[in-house]
Amino acid sequence: MEKLEILEIELDALVRASKDNIVITDGEGIVLRASPNSSAIYGTDSSSLIGKTVIELEAENVLSPSVTIMVLKERKEVQVMQHTSTGRSVMATGIPVYDEAGEIIRVISFSHDLTELQHLKEDYEELRTTMERYQSEILEIREKDHGLENMVIKSKSIQRTWQLVQRVAKSDASVVFLGESGVGKNVFARALHKGSQREKETFIEVNCGAIPESLFESEMFGYEAGSFTGANKKGKPGLIELADKGTLFLDEIGELPLPVQAKLLKVLQEKEVTRVGGIKSKSIDFRLIASTNQDLSEMVKQGKFRQDLFYRLNVISITIPPLRERKEDITMLSHYYLQKFNEKYGMSKFFHATTIEGLVAHDWPGNVRELQNMIERLVITAETNTIYPDSLPFYIQQERLQNTDSLLIEELEERSTTLREALEEVEIRWLKRAARQYRTTYEMAEYLGLNQSNVVRKLKKYGINAKTHSNA
Ligand SMILES: Nc1ncnc2c1ncn2[C@@H]1O[C@H](COP(=O)(O)OP(=O)(O)OP(=O)(O)O)[C@@H](O)[C@H]1O
Ligand SMILES: [Mg+2]
Repeated sequence: MEKLEILEIELDALVRASKDNIVITDGEGIVLRASPNSSAIYGTDSSSLIGKTVIELEAENVLSPSVTIMVLKERKEVQVMQHTSTGRSVMATGIPVYDEAGEIIRVISFSHDLTELQHLKEDYEELRTTMERYQSEILEIREKDHGLENMVIKSKSIQRTWQLVQRVAKSDASVVFLGESGVGKNVFARALHKGSQREKETFIEVNCGAIPESLFESEMFGYEAGSFTGANKKGKPGLIELADKGTLFLDEIGELPLPVQAKLLKVLQEKEVTRVGGIKSKSIDFRLIASTNQDLSEMVKQGKFRQDLFYRLNVISITIPPLRERKEDITMLSHYYLQKFNEKYGMSKFFHATTIEGLVAHDWPGNVRELQNMIERLVITAETNTIYPDSLPFYIQQERLQNTDSLLIEELEERSTTLREALEEVEIRWLKRAARQYRTTYEMAEYLGLNQSNVVRKLKKYGINAKTHSNA
């Protein structure tokens, strides 16, 4: 065999055997040779690559960017990440080969498929964010545990609720907390446990909405060794068993599917559980607290909640009033959370009086949770140390204006002023408010919907000094 022939065979074997994809072009970028694994990476087999120029291949989107084009342009070795038409991520390295005159006569490129690595990286990122979420949840749980003494109990109605909870805590009766989302059902349930004789024992909180129906029995009742595939080898106690001597808190009880309600009722009646796959039952001593933001009696009427379970739970029901029915709490909660978030973010912000007016006027459909989130947002986003009402979401600003308007009209009517005097009074108040909130007459003009010279004239007419009011 000729030496050249042998070399050709060797080269062919090399290209064929390589795990990397190898493409060889001449100095013009025309493909001379390509590995047989091209189709897996580029979606085009090697025979249809041969004879084409890399410029054509890039234009056809087979690969981009082409490392060979870059090598020809830059006249040196190049490494680049490519994305191929088959959706792979490929690390390509192009190497120029020169003749004696220093001209590029060949470009050899090696492409290494990194798609799996890329996927791994994405999975890792996802895992990391999940971890971070769990971490913040753990922090939140810890905070809640210590946070009891930090509850804001200001208005008459919440004081009454608090006292009722403390009284009921001493008995061992079942309690169900009712109330809209975010009113504080969970914090009151924990307070009830802390105020009870079982205070030193465990408090097991079960979010009924979060357990899939198929896992309910094994989660709640536990299971014996080897009772089903995927189960822990040694068996596992259920949540009810863990609550022995302590308190079992069934949160979001309205979410329980009917078959599960039946199973739960049986346990509540007998006060004993049998693990899945077990024979012997074990008696458990626990105090039951439940909570829901749904109307359970209505659900009973609609057949969505078992009446017998309802009666068993509903021995004592405590309804926590929504925030809009206890407006005194809003001011105190706002200051409480302001301080908390100031500490958390190392800030020293404070509310302008009109901002508090706005917060009190809002009716908080998401209750304390919504208020808490709003204050956190204000602490983070307000540009100045004073939190002005213009930092509030637009809908809250509107509510505040409507509210103060109707108060104003009532007040003016009471003083039986003429319409003309009343209009002037409104104008003065509005101007004063603008002067308090804004630093320049231009900003005031924009807020009032007037032009600036008009604003200056009106301020002069009523003797309002924009500067002395600017920090009120
Ligand atoms: N009186 C209060 N003082 C201070 N913080 C409170 C008060 N009431 C509720 N919170 C806070 O408001 C948030 C919502 O409370 P919680 O989770 O107890 O509400 P919930 O009624 O269980 O809501 P959901 O029905 O959505 O589960 C929590 O962060 C809690 O710490
Ligand atoms: Mg809750």
